[in-house]
Amino acid sequence: MDDKESVALPSITALMKDSEAMNQILMRPLENSDPRVNEVKIRRLYLQASAQQWFAPQKLDYDMPINLTDEQRRVWARFHLIFYTLEKMGLNVIQNMMSKASAKLRSDEVASYLSVQAADEARHVFAIEAYLRKLGTIPKYDHKYHVLGRAASMGLYRVENWLFSTLFSENFASCFLRQAKNADIDPLGAELCRMLIIDESRHIHFLNIVLPDIMERLSLLGKTYVRSSQFFIMKFTELVSRSLEVDARLVGLDRRALLEDAFENVERSYEAFGVSRRFLPFPTIRQTVTI
Ligand SMILES: [Fe+2]
Ligand SMILES: [Fe+2]
Repeated sequence: MDDKESVALPSITALMKDSEAMNQILMRPLENSDPRVNEVKIRRLYLQASAQQWFAPQKLDYDMPINLTDEQRRVWARFHLIFYTLEKMGLNVIQNMMSKASAKLRSDEVASYLSVQAADEARHVFAIEAYLRKLGTIPKYDHKYHVLGRAASMGLYRVENWLFSTLFSENFASCFLRQAKNADIDPLGAELCRMLIIDESRHIHFLNIVLPDIMERLSLLGKTYVRSSQFFIMKFTELVSRSLEVDARLVGLDRRALLEDAFENVERSYEAFGVSRRFLPFPTIRQTVTI
């Protein structure tokens, strides 16, 4: 399932009044003779992202009781600790990479848009942190996953590498949230997932706007570098997730379906960029081991 099927993002005109000024002034990108991305689309997404900002203490009712068994509570705390780590890592990386990305893509519209996306990620970290406390768990960054953030934003072609890596991580997060929302979770957890899905769908939308242009300009060496980094991140995720399968089943999550969903979404995006599975190999999803 891709993001467009799961969450239909409202149009700009649905979010804001359809006025002359909006069409003539607000939606028009800055003058830029040589952008490397579609600035009209980025500008629209910036407006949409700004209009869809939400405030966790208002939007989520943290007074709601947690109607979970002790076992379910333990499992959701475990998964949200991982999710919390990944979101916090994503926040650190976007803060580090957004100025580099807007310089590389020669676009101030990208700078504005990514600033709002960084605010989204800060909100996610905050909202998950509060949910973990509600589950009775102390939020803590797990350094085991730190290697993912390094692989996604270091080395050569770091801007391209970061954006392509984000395609996988945003899709993986979306698939996890969609499954979690419908699994055996308490109403606060389900509502948290629902709110996060809307933001993550926008993040995927951004990548689908910029990545085809980036792919077109990328050298053969750049493509090879990005491909190896992508494979490492997906392989690492597949490997780590094996140890979570038993707990996943306890709350109605399906690890294999989740990985398949995320891989399929990434593959579909790559196909839209004009490259096939031959360009991006996917790791085999292996049988679980109980740890
Ligand atoms: Fe996020
Ligand atoms: Fe995101």
